[in-house]
Amino acid sequence: MYEILAEYYDEMMSADYDAWYSYLKTFGIKGKVLELGCGTGNFTSRLCKDGYSVTAVDLSAEMLNVASRKCGARRPLFIKADMQEFLPPTKVDTVLVACDGVNYLKEPSKLFSKVYSYLAPDGVFIFDISTEYKLRNVLADNVFYFESGKADLVWQNDCKKNKLDMRLVFFEKQQHSYIKREENQRMYIYTQDELQKALFSAGFKSVDVYGDMTATEPKKNSERIHFVVKKG
Ligand SMILES: C[S@@+](CC[C@H](N)C(=O)[O-])C[C@H]1O[C@@H](n2cnc3c(N)ncnc32)[C@H](O)[C@@H]1O
Repeated sequence: MYEILAEYYDEMMSADYDAWYSYLKTFGIKGKVLELGCGTGNFTSRLCKDGYSVTAVDLSAEMLNVASRKCGARRPLFIKADMQEFLPPTKVDTVLVACDGVNYLKEPSKLFSKVYSYLAPDGVFIFDISTEYKLRNVLADNVFYFESGKADLVWQNDCKKNKLDMRLVFFEKQQHSYIKREENQRMYIYTQDELQKALFSAGFKSVDVYGDMTATEPKKNSERIHFVVKKG
């Protein structure tokens, strides 16, 4: 997962990372930051530039390679690990899982308990998910096509129960031909309610939820939900 896509991820992502990062900062990012599922470092590089002490974790070596090239003199500590297993050596003030990292977990409650154990008492845990609405109504049983300078991508989605299986077929351009390469990913569908319950069960006392980069509650057709979670 995220092996072949790593090379094309930034070109194919249409997100406005400056706006998204500014939005996340309104939730009070502070101190030692642990970024989980950092991907190609679009938030990592901005956090480092702003002077935060950052540890950036991802399961994909290929995504971390791209992230490493993006970070300048102020570098984070990059770690290749499963976020569900990773334990930082000291408490951290901010835990960030931006852009769907939690959708890739089969049991987010495991991560929530881990984060509770290493988040400082006045720390903040910020994450977002692609919503059930988006996965079932926008992505499910649909095919998308992207063209880039180096490859074309056919992205086909199949939704069964609470899983979205994604088949990504890359046609990498050669001089007179294409090389076909394929990667599969699985995302899990979670509702706001079940994640809130799992967060409270893990011990968190405060869970605020916002829709689609707003300061207001999610709507029925919000495609992204942001969670801002605290211990006290
Ligand atoms: C959609 S990308 C988001 C990347 C980055 N946060 C961004 O906003 O551009 C999701 C990332 O989560 C990573 N990921 C998925 N499951 C993971 C796990 N169990 N542990 C660590 N990273 C994981 C993937 O490798 C991928 O880089």
